[in-house]
Amino acid sequence: EKIKFDYSKSLTFFNEAELDYLTPMVTSAHKLLHDGTGAGNEYTGWVELPHEFDPHLLKDIQETAEKIKNNCDVLIIVGIGGSYLGARAAIEMLNHHFYNLLSKSQRKTPEIHFAGHNISSSYLKHLLDVIDGKDICINVISKSGTTTEPALAFRVLKEYMENKYGKEETKERIIATTDAKKGALKQMADEEGYKTFVIPDDIGGRYSVLAPVGLLPIAVAGIDIQEVLLGAKAAYEDGKIEDLKENQCYQYAAIRNILYRKGKTVEIMVNYEPSLHYFGEWWKQLYGESEGKDNKGIFPASVNFSTDLHSMGQYVQQGLRNIFETVLIIQDTEEKILIKEDPQNLDGLNYLVGKTVDYVNGKAFEGTLLAHQDGGVPNLVISIPKINPYYYGYLVYFFEKACGISGYLLGVNPFDQPGVEDYKRNMFALLGKPGYEAQRQELLKRL
Ligand code: PA5
Repeated sequence: EKIKFDYSKSLTFFNEAELDYLTPMVTSAHKLLHDGTGAGNEYTGWVELPHEFDPHLLKDIQETAEKIKNNCDVLIIVGIGGSYLGARAAIEMLNHHFYNLLSKSQRKTPEIHFAGHNISSSYLKHLLDVIDGKDICINVISKSGTTTEPALAFRVLKEYMENKYGKEETKERIIATTDAKKGALKQMADEEGYKTFVIPDDIGGRYSVLAPVGLLPIAVAGIDIQEVLLGAKAAYEDGKIEDLKENQCYQYAAIRNILYRKGKTVEIMVNYEPSLHYFGEWWKQLYGESEGKDNKGIFPASVNFSTDLHSMGQYVQQGLRNIFETVLIIQDTEEKILIKEDPQNLDGLNYLVGKTVDYVNGKAFEGTLLAHQDGGVPNLVISIPKINPYYYGYLVYFFEKACGISGYLLGVNPFDQPGVEDYKRNMFALLGKPGYEAQRQELLKRL
């Protein structure tokens, strides 16, 4: 069964002819991406990745994951942005909702925690409380190897580990995923003798989940990464068809562009399964960093329904009409709860007897779809047969490919992120980092 992209419910907001008009632009974007002639082409290594994945690397990742599973009660993934969101999305989507709360025998894989994606000392302190008395391993992930957030967290955790295990054993418990040659993390890994995985030069952070960046943590969580790659490969095959009429991924990219030009400048990624929350976070980073530049780009937002129908739902229904929704809908969920008869029927729910909780969720989706359509919000629907590693891999590649195409349709470089540097420069200057003295004086005057 295939993932399906359905835009039929949005045809009151645009028509098929508009898609036809975009065909030459999509063809040109396809060529830019596949021939490697577009802006940012030095970062398009992810395009061919699923279909040419090195089997030795796959084996190394799987063996390292086994070692971590055998030696650790807890894996801490240290990274920020593209260096952690894809793994977190997979782990939350594909594992038990209360994964870390399960007993070790139920889970059979280590507890997984994240660090280095904020600068909160209470977060770090509380993490240290949680891992107290447990055997830990760390996968520190940073392509540049110099990002402040993960570097800081890693310094704290490394010291904790060295006090606990001594320097020698600590080395065995740390895996660094970083550049092949450059950066402080690479240098540290070489000097300390950590096992390393390489983030290829031609794959940027937010497109790196199908590299060791995402695959190692995902494998440690007990998820079949071969299936993830198979799903990505299927999306690669489907996504390389040049013809817009035959390519759902390109249709999604083109329709976003059509809606954007009509003033729909905010796209909300919607889910009806709490396990998809981090998939929305991963998607926001992918699209926000890829397209939000040169004073343009769709603002990517996300909501968890039906939870957020009781908060953001009001805005979506009646707020500023500059939004459209992309809804992820799961056709068949694994766990079923049947609604049973209650003789007293005090809650008035007996009309649902014999139905499942998922059935109710499905009706919430259909009702919302129609209501939002009536409220002036185009809805694009992505139907996913079920939640499993294969479809996760498919979705990842589908959205990556659509993002590259969409960026070219918009006329931006979808593979750089120059704006991310501005806050870093100011933060370094304010912290007194050597080399930022002049800027520091300027900023201090302004504060
Ligand atoms: O997508 C990106 O390039 C960024 O979000 C990076 O992944 C993020 O800034 C972390 O960078 P690094 O892996 O160099 O620490």
